[in-house]
Amino acid sequence: MSVRRLHHEQPAGFAFNAENEAWAQATIAKYPPGREASAVIPLLWRAQEQEGWVTKPAIETIADRLGMAYIRVLEVATFYTMFLLAPVGKKAHIQVCGTTPCQLRGAEELIHICKSRIAAHPFEISPDGNFSWEEVECLGACVNAPMVQVLKDTYEDLTPDTFNALIDGFAAGSPPKPGPQNGRQYAAAEGGDTTLTDASLYDGSVIGKYREYAREPVEAAAAPAPAPAPAPTPAPAAAAATSPATKPENATPAPEKATTPATQPAAAPKEDVKVSDEFKPALLAEARGGSSDDLKLIWGVGPKLEELLHRLGVFHFDQIASWNEMNLKWVDQNLGAFKGRAVRDKWIEQAVKLASGWRPSDKDGDKPT
Ligand code: FES
Repeated sequence: MSVRRLHHEQPAGFAFNAENEAWAQATIAKYPPGREASAVIPLLWRAQEQEGWVTKPAIETIADRLGMAYIRVLEVATFYTMFLLAPVGKKAHIQVCGTTPCQLRGAEELIHICKSRIAAHPFEISPDGNFSWEEVECLGACVNAPMVQVLKDTYEDLTPDTFNALIDGFAAGSPPKPGPQNGRQYAAAEGGDTTLTDASLYDGSVIGKYREYAREPVEAAAAPAPAPAPAPTPAPAAAAATSPATKPENATPAPEKATTPATQPAAAPKEDVKVSDEFKPALLAEARGGSSDDLKLIWGVGPKLEELLHRLGVFHFDQIASWNEMNLKWVDQNLGAFKGRAVRDKWIEQAVKLASGWRPSDKDGDKPT
């Protein structure tokens, strides 16, 4: 980055022409009394458009108009490279970005062209007086590197050929359209999309699919088919605990039909292999001490499923933690609408952790497994 100083030769004075004066008054009036300094950048820009560059008299005139110290306006003018502090080419002053991304993509070649076609040094005006150039820091279009800026317009994705064409265009009075010069749309991926290319993402077919993966909504969806429950066995859990002859199916709330939505395509069919009652785990008629553990802390268990587990005789983490795989499968096949959950969600693993006292810091984001 070069040191930016005022040019050694300055005009005697500065004044906005009639049109710009009216514009300046309207611009300053946009800001509340005492905040006129906010108009400093627009006024400097308009002065540059009028004069071709920002002169010392223009800086001082604008400072007076806005009630600012000269040094404050000078700071603004010298900070932003969009303000040209020396006379430049009449047709174009080309600011070439020389920062890393543009360097890596060919800025050196653009600077070489500037040196050979315009002038050997920055801010040196071409022999015909029409062009000048300088190297500037990143202009914020790195995705489309390399690029140059001419006044307020940027020309991006340049190659030596397109840059030469750009200079020819300005010379002929018909510069190319600003923006990428390689046909890409704005900063869109060069070579086309590489992600989010599945058309189903945009045709509406996946709206609501998240319910298949979210815990509570899945249960809500499965729950509406609670119990055509014929057998009004009042306490199936207790019964199951004490009488092995009682079929757990009677206690399960939901018939298979309503339970096998698209939600668990893989797990449900497996459960058709019956696990005999000899693998039924130890179940309880009621919670020990009258208080059950919060089984909803098990990932995948919501209020409905917890209620069902209570009816089966499951109230505590240590109960589940003590099961073997066959016990787990036996319970799983008796989960009615939720059949398949126990194995799929590795309840034993989860229960061991929960029984040890571990608790999730955030129930929805922190799984016991
Ligand atoms: S590096 Fe050139 S625009 Fe950012």
